[in-house]
Amino acid sequence: MNVGSRLKILSAMIVVCSLAATLVRGQGSGQAQAGPQKELMAEDVYKNIQVFRGVPENQFLATMGFFCGSLSESCEFCHKSEATWAAYAEDNDMKNMARRMVLMMNALNKQYFGGKHEVTCYTCHRNSAIPKTTPTFADIYNPNPPPEDPDTIAASSPGAPPAGPMLDKYLRAIGGVEKLETVTSFVAKGTYEGYSAAEGEKRGIEIFAKAPAQRTTMMHTINGDMTTVYDSRTGWVAEPGRPVPLLALTDLFLDIARTEAELSFPAHIKDTLKNLRVGDSVTIRGKDCYVVYADSAAGAPVKLYFDEATGLLMRLTRFTDSPVGHYRYETDYSDYRPVGGPMGVKMPYHQVLSWMDGRATITFTSIQINAKIDDSKFGKPAPAVLTTPGN
Ligand code: HEC
Ligand code: HEC
Repeated sequence: MNVGSRLKILSAMIVVCSLAATLVRGQGSGQAQAGPQKELMAEDVYKNIQVFRGVPENQFLATMGFFCGSLSESCEFCHKSEATWAAYAEDNDMKNMARRMVLMMNALNKQYFGGKHEVTCYTCHRNSAIPKTTPTFADIYNPNPPPEDPDTIAASSPGAPPAGPMLDKYLRAIGGVEKLETVTSFVAKGTYEGYSAAEGEKRGIEIFAKAPAQRTTMMHTINGDMTTVYDSRTGWVAEPGRPVPLLALTDLFLDIARTEAELSFPAHIKDTLKNLRVGDSVTIRGKDCYVVYADSAAGAPVKLYFDEATGLLMRLTRFTDSPVGHYRYETDYSDYRPVGGPMGVKMPYHQVLSWMDGRATITFTSIQINAKIDDSKFGKPAPAVLTTPGN
């Protein structure tokens, strides 16, 4: 793995987000009108689906991100041309090799692991295209291996302290339950850089949230407005340049949206999350952190990292399903500041959002609590419109 390949992944994602002029006017927009009754599958949207037939469109591009993340390669490693969405349908040796790998992995999991995703692309590849076969002495005799972040889901570590007091400490650190309960909505405005913006370029972002569980994020990307809505039951993403310009969130993608909306108002975090377990401590940005594992309402794994000293939430990790394993999203929080006067609750003004093939850094310039927000903000968004075709 090297920084170069990581950057390529990010820029590849930017390309993906900007090249869909053809599809927005063609196949994609037609599909989006198909209605909410029938879930869109990969083969409804793309032309040459062989191993991922029956995989929801929600999961499909995440699967491609999982490939990139596991091999530390960018999209063009397997897709020789990214000129249009249709170009991704063209076959080549590398793409066919990847298809064989999917079949091999499925067969292993089926035969030896009861069909669970125990063996994934990452299990073997560990960020390289050709997996290593022989242990190295550098690994065996390294006296100070860096502490590894425990994997997706873990049981409680023996002797770990209980999770309840950690959540209580967090709630006290951000103002206490009583004050938190007085916050019934907020509007956060600021900038983000990295995702669908030229490197170093800052674009506008707005978040509207209403207790207990409504949340809308608008990102003013170079290609037009990207809107993600969770209205407390249903969710949508309208993303300019995505083959489907308005996609209903399903399965764990919907569940993540719900968890994020609920955790925007953390006073009742103990009701939002279930089955809390505490794992080994890890260090994040130089701070020792407790890791709390939990399940969301729909049973999806969630991980929270609390600063042992201050009690503040440093990181939130969520996972969705994909046909090749759990897909990871992560938000790092910092710069907690009082909102609504010095006696107010504290919120993080700086957030870094990471997913397997991209990253965005968000800086809020204003957070207004208990602002009146029109209900229409949480309605079904219009299909995204690509504003800079051919960019
Ligand atoms: C390790 C190889 C690999 C990487 C890396 C990869 N893909 Fe793919 N991609 C595939 C394979 C294999 C298929 C065919 C899946 C099937 O047959 O069901 C595919 C299919 C697709 C399709 C469907 C095209 C069509 O119309 O049939 C799209 C779109 C796509 N990939 C986008 C991407 C994007 C975007 C990235 C980077 C984020 C990416 N891929 C990275 C292997 C890869
Ligand atoms: C059980 C281990 C294992 C798993 C699981 C696995 N791979 Fe592989 N993969 C390998 C090995 C070993 C090679 C190298 C084969 C060789 O040297 O010819 C390889 C090679 C590849 C190559 C060719 C790389 C190149 O530069 O020629 C691609 C692409 C690839 N794997 C993609 C995937 C994807 C995508 C997944 C998940 C769906 C996956 N692999 C899962 C073991 C694995």
